[in-house]
Amino acid sequence: MKIGVIGTGYVGLVTAVCLSDLGHAVQGTDIDADKIDKANQGISHIYEPGLEELLKKNLKSGNLSFSHDLHQTIQDSNVLFVCVNTPQREDGSADMCYVEGTSRSIAENLNTYKLIVEKSTVPIQTSMWIKRTISLYKKGDADFDVASNPEFLREGSAVYDFMNPDRVIIGAESDRARDILVKIYKKYSDKILVTNIDTAELIKHASNSFLAMKISYINLMSELCDKTDANVELVAKGMGLDPRIGPLFLRAGLGYGGSCFPKDVRALIKIGEDLGVDLTLLKEVDRINRDRIQSFIQKIKKALWIIKDKKIAVLGLAFKPETDDLRNAPSIYLIEALQKEEAVLRLYDPEALDNMKSVFPEQSPSLLYTDNPYDAVRDANATLIVTEWEEFKNLDLDKIKTLMANPIIIDGRNVFDPEDVKKLGFEYYSVGRK
Ligand code: UGA
Repeated sequence: MKIGVIGTGYVGLVTAVCLSDLGHAVQGTDIDADKIDKANQGISHIYEPGLEELLKKNLKSGNLSFSHDLHQTIQDSNVLFVCVNTPQREDGSADMCYVEGTSRSIAENLNTYKLIVEKSTVPIQTSMWIKRTISLYKKGDADFDVASNPEFLREGSAVYDFMNPDRVIIGAESDRARDILVKIYKKYSDKILVTNIDTAELIKHASNSFLAMKISYINLMSELCDKTDANVELVAKGMGLDPRIGPLFLRAGLGYGGSCFPKDVRALIKIGEDLGVDLTLLKEVDRINRDRIQSFIQKIKKALWIIKDKKIAVLGLAFKPETDDLRNAPSIYLIEALQKEEAVLRLYDPEALDNMKSVFPEQSPSLLYTDNPYDAVRDANATLIVTEWEEFKNLDLDKIKTLMANPIIIDGRNVFDPEDVKKLGFEYYSVGRK
């Protein structure tokens, strides 16, 4: 069996590398020549723990290759994983033009039977459109199937997640398609759930929206905690002890970001609108999440009164730790808001500095990047914690205190123990706790 992976972004590259590590012959392809050139040299264009090592290993073993030639990859493969991006359009819906374009390319190169597997997150009923597109444009009479196999990888632990799945969802219509996917994932046979395609597509959107809902819910509770003596961490702990609720994804803070939750919640709202189902519940999830930034700005104002001309250190830019990804990162919205208030910013992140420089170019003296956290806090009137990198948990706080103009920490991720930091002489604000 030869597997082609179309699109080598986050999902595609991890999928190609991990499938090859399971022993399959895999070829990845992408319209971005630079990604392919790098991959062929064993260089991952994304920061993802463990990925580059596996990439090198499987290139060397000959299981894995990358090609600029989409047409050749399609012709040479029996199974095609479609991992192209589905960006958000202005109305919140997913832009399916890359999936449609890929379907036409597959149609034009359908030389033998092929199983086309949707891996990108797509709206329910996308498979029907892929099938229709291929049928409309195909030239020969080779047969094909479409199946859905949504990914549940988290950035920062994508390789681990692929190799240790909670579930492998296979949405298939024919026995042939189902059998091929079951064979590909035979190592995880006890984790496989076979459904029809609509169900598989919906499982993905329903899961991400539910997780986003948990986060917005605890953030809403944190607002109540901020106004009372309740402690949101203990509220979350107490709730999480109920196995029906579970302890995960109840960390209050600056809200969820990334390339998935914000986009997927909005896409599901739009799918509901198109199908005549009222998903106001999810509109609230999105609104609560967007409100996190203003709520944090209010905390900064509570500490500094006027933000204009105040020197503010921002520690953490990536949308979460262990990634350099800035897509929908709360830091971006926060920095925009702070720039409007004319703050003087010093920004630091262990991995995302270079990416951030293309979002906010350096502008002396109002916005500068530092290559360590201590330079960022020098002479600062306040330090903001925006991403909960392990590095920040181990900061030398005594040193930070002597470097800062005013020892004020406003922690958007509840990284420190309030008692500890206050004992060291800091004024400390966090989320949903005193
Ligand atoms: C998410 C899902 O967790 C994956 O299962 C899914 O495959 C992926 O989206 C996708 O659709 O591709 P990811 O976006 O990489 O993965 O990151 P998460 O670890 O889920 O975190 C998402 C956001 O929620 C982050 O901004 C994080 O800081 C925030 N979060 C998470 C909280 O604010 N509180 C929590 O308790 C947990």
